[in-house]
Amino acid sequence: MHIIRSQTNNSSYPVYIGTDFIDSGLLQTLLPMPRIVLVTDQTVADIYLQTICETLTGFSLNLIILPPGEVNKNWEAVTKIIDVLVAFKHDRFSTLVSLGGGVIGDVTGFAASIFMRGINWLQLPTTLMAQVDAAVGGKTGCNYFGIKNLIGTFYQPQNVVIEIAFLRTLPDREYLSGLAEVVKYGMACDGEFFIWLEKHIYDLINRDPNILELAIHRCCQIKLELVQQDENDHGQRRVLNFGHTFAHALESATEFASILHGEAVAIGMLLATRLAVKLGLVERELLIRLYNLLNCIGLPLALPSEISSVGALYNFMMRDKKKQAAQLSLMLPCALGKIKVIQGLDLKCLEDLIQDYAST
Ligand code: NAD
Ligand code: GLY
Repeated sequence: MHIIRSQTNNSSYPVYIGTDFIDSGLLQTLLPMPRIVLVTDQTVADIYLQTICETLTGFSLNLIILPPGEVNKNWEAVTKIIDVLVAFKHDRFSTLVSLGGGVIGDVTGFAASIFMRGINWLQLPTTLMAQVDAAVGGKTGCNYFGIKNLIGTFYQPQNVVIEIAFLRTLPDREYLSGLAEVVKYGMACDGEFFIWLEKHIYDLINRDPNILELAIHRCCQIKLELVQQDENDHGQRRVLNFGHTFAHALESATEFASILHGEAVAIGMLLATRLAVKLGLVERELLIRLYNLLNCIGLPLALPSEISSVGALYNFMMRDKKKQAAQLSLMLPCALGKIKVIQGLDLKCLEDLIQDYAST
C-alpha cells in the first residue's frame, strides 16, 4: 500500500493506493459526517453498488446512478446531482462520493465545487484512467455545446481512495485506454519511467497487481508534484496536456461516441511527436519508440473514419482552453521525458501534419 499527499495552497489530502480498502473499513473512517450522496454510473452500480452500500451502513445515503460514457458527461448530469442535493436538503456538511471512471469523477467534482460554493468530495476511482489521472489534481467539469470540458472548475477532493482490485472487472478496451495516459507521464515528465514502462509493458497489459501499483503510484506522484507547483494549469502542469489538444479535438469531432479519451490521447501524442520531429525538436527515434509502445499495448492508432475533413479537427483545436491570443499552445516533446511549449504554428503546418498522419 502507498499513501501520498496532495498539497496545494488551499488544500491537503491523502491519496491511498492499494488493495482491500473497501473491506478494511477505510471509507467509514474517511467520511467525516453521516450524510452522503453517492454518484456512480449504471455499469459500475451493477458490479459494485451493493458491496459499497454494505460498507456504508450507518450513514444516511442518497444514490445517483447516471448513464455511463463520455456522451453523458454533460450539464444535465451535473444538474441531476445538484437536484438531489437540493431535494434532500443537503448542506455544507454533506459529502459527495464519486464511484466510477473519469466521467463520474469530473461531473461529481464539478457539482461538489458549485453546490453551496463547495462541499466535501471523496473520489473512489474505478478505471485505470481515473486512478492514474482524473481522480487527482482537481480538474472537474463536463462537455458543453459539443466542446470537450468547456465548463468546469479547479476543486480538490478531501480524499482519494485508489482500490486497484476495481480494475479486475474493467473491459480490455477501457483498461488499454488508461494505459495511454500512463505512457503520457513517461513521455512528458519522466524518461526513466518511460524506460521502465518499455520493460514492464506486458506485466501491465496482464494487469499484474504489483506492477500496476508501482505504475499508479508513480503517475500520481508525478501529477501531484506538478499540481503543487501550478494548480490552475498556467505553468508546469501544462506538460500533462501533452497530446491533449489533438485528443480533445478528436473526441469533440467524433461527438464523444466512437473514440475513448485514452485512445484519442494516444493519437494526440503521436501527432504531437511527429510535429516535434518535423520542427527538429527531437529525433525520429523517439517517435518510433512511442509508436512501438502504444502499438504493443494494442491501442488503435489510425484516425477514426468519421474524421473526413482535417479542417473540422482544426476548428475544434482552435477551441482549446490553452489557446492564447488566438494562437494555439502545443506541448511538444523536446527529449524523452521533457516537453516544450510551442506557440504560433500556422494552419498549413497543422493541416499538413494531420493530412500526413491520415494518409500513412
Ligand atoms: P469512463 O468514466 O467513461 O469509464 C469508462 C467505462 O468503464 C464506463 O462505461 C464505465 O461504466 C466503465 N467502468 C468504470 N469502472 C469500471 C469497472 N471497475 N469495471 C467495469 N466497468 C467499469 O471513462 P474514463 O476513461 O475512466 O475517463 C475518461 C474521462 O476522464 C474523460 O471525460 C476525460 O476527459 C476525463 N479525464 C479527466 C481528468 C482530470 O484531470 N479531471 C484526467 C484524465 C481524464
Ligand atoms: N489531465 C491533465 C491535468 O489534470 O492537468
